[in-house]
Amino acid sequence: MAAWLPSARRRLRDLEVRPSVQHIGLVERVGDGVATISGLPLTRLDEMLLFEDGTPGLAVHVGESTVNCVLLGSGEGIVAGSRVHGTAEVFRVPVGEGLLGRVLDSTGQPLDDGPPIKAERHDPVDRPAPAIVDRDPVTRPLMTGLTVIDSMIPLGRGQRELIIGDRKTGKTAIAVDAIINQRASDLICIYAAVGQKTSAVSQVIEAVREYGAPERCIFVVGGADAPPGAQWITPYSACTMAEYFRDKGRDVLLVIDDLTHHAIIYRQLSLLLRRPPGREAYPGDVFYIHARLLERAANLSSDLGGSITALPIAETQAGNLTAYIPTNLISITDGQIYLEPKLFYEGQKPAVNVGMSVSRVGGQTQAPAIKRLAERLKLDYAQFLELEVFTRFGTMVDERTKARIEHGRRIRAILAQPEYRPLSVAEQVGLLLAVGERKLDDLPLDRVERFKAGLRDRLHESCPRACVHVDETGDISEPEQSDFLAAIDALLTELAPGQGAGG
Ligand SMILES: Nc1ncnc2c1ncn2[C@@H]1O[C@H](COP(=O)(O)OP(=O)(O)O)[C@@H](O)[C@H]1O
Ligand SMILES: [Mg+2]
Repeated sequence: MAAWLPSARRRLRDLEVRPSVQHIGLVERVGDGVATISGLPLTRLDEMLLFEDGTPGLAVHVGESTVNCVLLGSGEGIVAGSRVHGTAEVFRVPVGEGLLGRVLDSTGQPLDDGPPIKAERHDPVDRPAPAIVDRDPVTRPLMTGLTVIDSMIPLGRGQRELIIGDRKTGKTAIAVDAIINQRASDLICIYAAVGQKTSAVSQVIEAVREYGAPERCIFVVGGADAPPGAQWITPYSACTMAEYFRDKGRDVLLVIDDLTHHAIIYRQLSLLLRRPPGREAYPGDVFYIHARLLERAANLSSDLGGSITALPIAETQAGNLTAYIPTNLISITDGQIYLEPKLFYEGQKPAVNVGMSVSRVGGQTQAPAIKRLAERLKLDYAQFLELEVFTRFGTMVDERTKARIEHGRRIRAILAQPEYRPLSVAEQVGLLLAVGERKLDDLPLDRVERFKAGLRDRLHESCPRACVHVDETGDISEPEQSDFLAAIDALLTELAPGQGAGG
């Protein structure tokens, strides 16, 4: 009957009582995703705090008697007087292979219906960028599969290229196509959504699941409905997840959609925390936080790891590239892809303004065949764009000018591309070859679409080995080029106006 007594005694004997220190503070004020806490004098900057309802927070301002904290969860259970623990730890997110194929929030919790995340370990969200000596120059290409970018604004692995433009000009579409094109490569793709609508994010995920290689992608979502703190740390969490793979020697493509919303969320939090506003009411360190983030994208020297290529996105208002955040981001990155609403509404998609876009480091990585063919094209296209402005006024033009304009129109038609249909190197080379050799100049403009649609299959049918070789090496030999041109000629004959293919 008293059998419990010895067992209880035993358990009491085994129990080890040690003193432990717990820092417990009290919430003074809470609201709008931030909280002020008193009674935590030992808190350090960027320390993670834990509220009694389990919500994590980040200490972003440490004062003499109070700590200001950004909530990383909804914090619905937090009231004035709630208890808060200091953790003496920075905020960490799960990293590892187990994240691949998953949709996560910015704290690393799954948002899909999958099982709990199997993490390799937990890494701090804020980490220093690689040192100068640990970096290599950008030397390997990153193909987006979009002819206009791969031929005119080529990207390299480890580059940071800004995609910038007004709302609804196809910024996300370019990033998504770049991700989809990696189904043919070994890159890991991470898409970080900051302040995006849930419908937009789910469209991205659906597209990648349908056309890309989702098993090599991670989606980190701090959507418009997420708490501001959670939106704010999204790019940092995504970058930490990318760094895990980079350190394993993998190449990662990190899309941050978008940093304008990130800056706005940061401004909101800063104003709520009563930090002094600067230009356009952004806090003084908004440049620094973006620079620090994007510096983490780099090409590591090969003995240390792989690379992170960052494609941050920025949204402009009425095409104003000289606003505060856009100019900041342009100066931080290695170039920008500028999307123009006018081109978009005219139906030129992707609506890349080639003249105002630049890639400052990718040129040296460009596939040799594309590089050779694109050189002339760029020049011809730039001249055409200038000429076109004049001929809009209906001026009489001579035959040579007319020919140049017709040629330019065909270059423009080649640079247009539907969504979710990235092209391989061989297919791009085929297109550039056709237009560069002026094969299309006699084809009616309305049939160029049909030529583009038919070329892919034609090349793969007529010269399959050459296609594989061009895809692998990025270069094209003399005989291969002849084969390509023969295939192009054959296709053009079928499409020629007299051939009854016009119906
Ligand atoms: N190359 C393209 N071809 C056809 N439609 C496109 C293309 N690029 C974008 N779109 C369409 O344009 C719309 C806006 O694109 P989106 O990428 O969401 O713009 P943003 O991210 O700049 O707001 C979407 O409906 C998308 O389907
Ligand atoms: Mg978008």
